[in-house]
Amino acid sequence: MKILVIGSGAREDVICKTLLKNADNVVFCAPGNDGMKLSGIKTISIDEDDFDRMANFAKTNNIDFTVVGPEEPLVNGIVDFFKKNKLKIFGPNKEAAKVEGSKSFTKKIMADAGVPTAKYEEFTDLDAALEYLKLDQTFPIVIKADGLAAGKGVYISEDLGDATKVVSELLDGHKFNTHKVVIEEFLEGEEFSLMAFVDHKRFYPMPLAQDYKKIFDGDMGLNTGGMGAVCPVQNISSDIEQEAITTVLKPFIDELHHQGIKYTGILYAGLILTKNGIKVIEFNARFGDPETEVVLPRLESDLSMIFNSILKHKKISSIQWNDDGLNLGVFAVSNGYPKKPIFGSLGKIEDFKNCPLTINYSGVRKTDGQLVSNGGRLYLLQTSASTLKEAQDIIYANFAKMDTRNIFYRKDIGKNSI
Ligand code: AMP
Ligand code: GLY
Repeated sequence: MKILVIGSGAREDVICKTLLKNADNVVFCAPGNDGMKLSGIKTISIDEDDFDRMANFAKTNNIDFTVVGPEEPLVNGIVDFFKKNKLKIFGPNKEAAKVEGSKSFTKKIMADAGVPTAKYEEFTDLDAALEYLKLDQTFPIVIKADGLAAGKGVYISEDLGDATKVVSELLDGHKFNTHKVVIEEFLEGEEFSLMAFVDHKRFYPMPLAQDYKKIFDGDMGLNTGGMGAVCPVQNISSDIEQEAITTVLKPFIDELHHQGIKYTGILYAGLILTKNGIKVIEFNARFGDPETEVVLPRLESDLSMIFNSILKHKKISSIQWNDDGLNLGVFAVSNGYPKKPIFGSLGKIEDFKNCPLTINYSGVRKTDGQLVSNGGRLYLLQTSASTLKEAQDIIYANFAKMDTRNIFYRKDIGKNSI
């Protein structure tokens, strides 16, 4: 099959590599990045928000179907646009992508479905929000911008002074173009991610993964787009995994269907195991990043078959996953990330080509026989192993052989999963 993958990060790199495991597939990635080309992925320079050129490419190259990686094109309606042009595309339409695009929409679906989540209130009016904050709230408290904010729209405020500043920036300053905020209870516990392939009411869960979001070891410092991930999550029991499927995924997907929202694509649930049970932190309308980089390498079934069956609404009898050991992925990020990434050389192309581990590339560019940084998150080293210690040893021994002058990486990814 001929498949077009939209996006340019490490998540799209692993989607392409997984599709290419079937030697009959021809895969294009638009826009992709220079690193992906090193492993033979064909990249096409079309911006992910240029729907016209994307659709035109799909049409003129007889693409069988397109797969959307990132959230923006989904929330902006690329699926509706392709369908109008009679092109097959895997992902939720604009209305269904609101599960990620609008926190208040998703909170309402969760309330209707009885899915457990943090207690919350929403506000469009600054004075009403400030009044609410002053009235006997417990801190820390969580403030979320309602729309897409590239992972930066969640604030954990320790006191009223900070919360007042945050709410004012969002509702008065309209940071991230925000006109509505959700203020919710702070939850404590182990976080984990559960993704599923969704075909309207039918869904197929993937193994659990865990994303390490903070910049520094020991989960310290600022939130990032994800510093690494592990799959499966050994400290979350299979009973809890089953409970997450039956008390979160199933009722949420049923409720979407019940409200006439036909969801086709990947649904991502960000969950937390609190002392009062599992609660939802967020839903996303796509594969998680970096979770996908450690989940898809464990897939033994043909990913193109899964996408194709779901696009035809054909039931899949079973999806096979490797259940030996684990997969670990660690991101190399620019020094100074996430505040102010400082760009520089990442080493010779040959060194990347000769690396014995799988590399999923993100913010990198090729120049004069070298890879150079072109973003905050640069590339992820990934391996499978029988134990976490073995996986960490393999990854960190490889980092020791790379040019690390301009990169930073966490040394404890996977630490919770023992
Ligand atoms: P999000 O962008 O919604 O994934 O949120 C980013 C991170 O903020 C999450 O992974 C959590 O670590 C944290 N977070 C979001 N909501 C809450 C909450 N209600 N309680 C505690 N932490 C939260
Ligand atoms: N790993 C979190 C996300 O993809 O949003």
